[in-house]
Amino acid sequence: MQYHFASRIARAPASFLDELFRVSADPSIISFAGGLPSSALIDTQGIAGAAREVMETDPDIALQYTTTDGYRPLREFIAQRYRNRLGIPATADEIQIVNGSQQSLDLFAKIFLDSGDHVAMERPGYLGAIEAFSLYEPVIDTVPLEADGPALAAFEHLMNHTPVKFFYGIPNSQNPSGRTYSQENRRAISECLKGTSTVFYEDDAFGELFFDHKPRLPVKRYLPDQSVIAGSFSKIVAPGMRIGWLFAPKEILRSFNIAKQAADLHSNFLCQKILHRYLTTHDLDTHIRMVTTTYHRKCRLMCDLLDDLLPMLSHTTPEGGMFLLATLPPGLTSLEVFKEGVRSKVAVLPGTPFYVDGGGMDTVRLNFSSASDEQITEGMHRLARVIKSLSAS
Ligand SMILES: Cc1ncc(COP(=O)(O)O)c(C=O)c1O
Repeated sequence: MQYHFASRIARAPASFLDELFRVSADPSIISFAGGLPSSALIDTQGIAGAAREVMETDPDIALQYTTTDGYRPLREFIAQRYRNRLGIPATADEIQIVNGSQQSLDLFAKIFLDSGDHVAMERPGYLGAIEAFSLYEPVIDTVPLEADGPALAAFEHLMNHTPVKFFYGIPNSQNPSGRTYSQENRRAISECLKGTSTVFYEDDAFGELFFDHKPRLPVKRYLPDQSVIAGSFSKIVAPGMRIGWLFAPKEILRSFNIAKQAADLHSNFLCQKILHRYLTTHDLDTHIRMVTTTYHRKCRLMCDLLDDLLPMLSHTTPEGGMFLLATLPPGLTSLEVFKEGVRSKVAVLPGTPFYVDGGGMDTVRLNFSSASDEQITEGMHRLARVIKSLSAS
């Protein structure tokens, strides 16, 4: 049987996920290639308790259909957190619950992008966004991501010469680089966008995971009506619940809601209720502090080992999040490090899929959140042996 799939599928980038799952399924491989939060830090007891309470007190409602926008008390909790943490006057009417922030990428692209439209992002950029946007057949423009944010001259040039529907960025502990935009950079790109019709899509998957426990002011602070923030409970509570949200002007949410309803009617209501019960009976700030303190230690351990064992390799030094990006010594490609690494039981993620327009062959993304300290130590020694032997051959 020959299946005649839509051209948008044929043009979508080949997914790296199959290869990654194969690697993660082998327990003898220490993997820094994935992007999982630490399983050990998920409050399984607390979530189990919240689930029991919901099923004991409210099962009829929790197991019924609900509205597309999501459980209002949960949306109010999220809005209040913006007000308290960041001083942003958010209301529940500006919050839409989604099935993980990955769904926001898909639905946002669906309501904004016609085939051939321009969308822009950082270079390197988040692979999941590249995959989600590609299905709508846009032209994806990129702006180099420097140590303190998108390169301003390139950003301005793009905005002045190209009708970009929206710019997708991750100002806090970016995936894959671990970089964080400076406050000056946030202000400068907001100034540049002001008065244009380009929306800033702020993916804030890691904004709660700063090692110094201090929040950074989002771009939305400078561009309230021209930007949206995609948030998620995946990295701060549990990714399997698949609960995220889009914080956006009401006019955008009206269209978004239509797309969301067509896609899945609403996000899993039972999980929304359990999550809300969990959030209102546990101290989220204390939990997040414990998670970030642990990730900070793991990140420092990985950076120190890289510096000691592989001084010929350069790497970013994240202020938070779950990833760093390493640049290989001249002459080595990330694909050969990946292949030889898997043979030597250590996996890294080649940087190439994060570059829509080619490049990244000399970079690898390393995840420091999911491996134990012992695995990080052993894995870095294995990686050092792989890179030294490839460099010598
Ligand atoms: C930058 C970024 N955005 C979005 C997501 C999707 O996360 P979720 O759908 O679990 O909220 C991820 C997952 O790792 C991510 O790294």
